[in-house]
Amino acid sequence: MTRPEELEKRLNLLVKFGGLISVETNITRLLEVIAGQVQTILNGDRCSVFILDRQTNELWSKVAQGMQQTEIRVPFGKGIVGNVASSGQFINIKDAYQDIRFNRDLDMMTGYQTRSILAVPLKNVAGKIIGVFEAINKRDGFFDAEDEGILQLMGSLAAAAIENAQLYESLSKSQLETIYRLAITAEYRDQQDTAIHLRHISEYSALIAHGMGLPEREIENVRYASPLHDIGKVGIADAILLKPGKLTPEEFEEMKKHTLYGAKILCNAESSLLQIACKVAASHHEKFNGTGYPAKLKGEHIPVYARIVSVADVFDALCMPRVYKPKWDPEKAREYILAENDKAFDPAIVNAFEKVYDDILKIYSATDGRTTIIPGITRELHRHNF
Ligand code: C2E
Ligand code: SIN
Ligand code: SIN
Ligand code: FE
Repeated sequence: MTRPEELEKRLNLLVKFGGLISVETNITRLLEVIAGQVQTILNGDRCSVFILDRQTNELWSKVAQGMQQTEIRVPFGKGIVGNVASSGQFINIKDAYQDIRFNRDLDMMTGYQTRSILAVPLKNVAGKIIGVFEAINKRDGFFDAEDEGILQLMGSLAAAAIENAQLYESLSKSQLETIYRLAITAEYRDQQDTAIHLRHISEYSALIAHGMGLPEREIENVRYASPLHDIGKVGIADAILLKPGKLTPEEFEEMKKHTLYGAKILCNAESSLLQIACKVAASHHEKFNGTGYPAKLKGEHIPVYARIVSVADVFDALCMPRVYKPKWDPEKAREYILAENDKAFDPAIVNAFEKVYDDILKIYSATDGRTTIIPGITRELHRHNF
């Protein structure tokens, strides 16, 4: 390849790099993508992205290729990587073993032989160090000045994406926390084990979605949105919700409105997660054959998230004690789900339920007979709020 061709190829790779990393919000996958790209573009043998953990003052990396999944931690200021982070300057060395800053422990651990290293700081827009890029063992010779420039350029592109993903991650964690607390408060009157029921619903729904082969993003959507399915029960009077026996037909008509109340509470929300939660709240009592409520939706007209949660909800409601019924054996509950195949439930979802049933049972067994009290939420607090 001629020099201009080489440059053009690299430029194209860089443009592609920018596109690839801007769409990935999962931090683990993002770091994998970045490491893979750095390796390709710089023609290094191994590439790692180290992220600065300000709490412990260490740099961690999970994507050292060739030794997957291992988490390496390097103290700030120590080793090549730690020095790049503390000085904010890149380091380009031809022979690591001749450099006193290099720490051989990792090579000893992995049996890998590091020779050349190019490490550049990752800085955010404000110029703060958020991590270090490290490329190791250039395949043909040594890292040169052009490699230095390219890696720094990739670093500035990546820093923005990494910060974004970190933000997204902390956001969805606190969102989940809020969602659980909101949902527990809403259902608190209803059941002894609201917290467990909601966790079951969340995990069963995610397992089923996984069993259906849905993409990761949708699995996470179901996981986070499902705990809100019964939030509309806040609008149901104690006399009905807590009735220790069978509901009269009039009372059940009133009870059915929890789907509409839930939809009303959630549907104006801007967050796409709450939009999904809204569909689930509205449609989790619809039945596949069109005999459910509130809208008698049929088949594919019922949002897929709601079809999933409906299986998870009924299975867990049967397995948990209710004011109106004792708990069922999980095997009996499973048979009920199978008997309702193509009636209440979508066969594709029952099929996925069967596929992941062993995992569902594991989650069920782990909490069977135990109650979780969420600290800070007390019955008194609840009474004052509603
Ligand atoms: P839930 O207790 O969370 O139950 C969710 C769904 O699980 C029920 O939706 C139903 O499809 C299924 N399920 C629960 N227990 C049984 C059962 O013993 N047998 C059968 N075949 N299915 C069961 P559904 O029926 O639309 O009820 C919605 C909500 O209405 C229930 O939520 C519960 O809060 C309330 N509810 C329903 N029936 C009664 C009742 O007889 N007494 C009282 N106090 N509440 C009831
Ligand atoms: C170092 O930073 O000195 C070693 C880390 C590595 O080789 O990845
Ligand atoms: C309870 O004391 O009713 C249980 C509380 C909970 O599981 O959230
Ligand atoms: Fe419900």
